Amino acid sequence: MINLIWAWDINRLIGSNQDLPWYYPEDLKYFKAVTLNKTVLMGRKTLDSILKRNKKPLPSRKNVVLSHQENVHDDVETIHDLKKYLLTHPNEDIFVIGGKSIFEQSIQYADKLYITEILKSYQGDIYLNDIDLSAFTLVSKTCQDDLCFCIYERKTTR
Ligand SMILES: NC(=O)c1ccc[n+]([C@@H]2O[C@H](COP(=O)([O-])OP(=O)(O)OC[C@H]3O[C@@H](n4cnc5c(N)ncnc54)[C@H](OP(=O)(O)O)[C@@H]3O)[C@@H](O)[C@H]2O)c1
Repeated sequence: MINLIWAWDINRLIGSNQDLPWYYPEDLKYFKAVTLNKTVLMGRKTLDSILKRNKKPLPSRKNVVLSHQENVHDDVETIHDLKKYLLTHPNEDIFVIGGKSIFEQSIQYADKLYITEILKSYQGDIYLNDIDLSAFTLVSKTCQDDLCFCIYERKTTR
């Protein structure tokens, strides 16, 4: 199963200065609960922002990082071909966790999207403007204060 997970604000903002534009402990808890013991696949810049914050890759998850470089970190699996990885691990529950370039390249393969809608407007520099949700249907939406946790599934099997 190929899943994508992100949080965006009302303007589709996802990043600011190579970090998240906001701090929502409830969303971080949700992200952890959904991805724990799964494969998390990310771009090298998103790994860098995680290392800046946590000093290590995400614990209790298989960390896979897309890069043109060799071996970006000792504790992650570095890959160079996103499509090949996604299509050759059919029995793995893969969560693509960003950033922008990885979401844009992988959404065509996604079965399921976990999107946290933040019902506010933030300042930042990375937007998911080109992401098209029309191939997906909303199957669940749970809101709490400024956050709505949404789950989408692909409308038809490919
Ligand atoms: N709100 C959210 O849910 C969320 C989630 C994740 C990230 N973010 C934010 O998004 C921002 C980072 O996103 P980003 O788009 O700038 O960076 P990114 O997608 O995390 O990483 C980009 C890097 O991935 C590698 N890459 C991309 N496509 C590749 C390909 N086809 N083949 C080989 N390597 C490839 C390259 O690494 P090399 O340069 O090493 O070759 C590229 O520089 C940060 O602000 C972060 O905080 C937000």
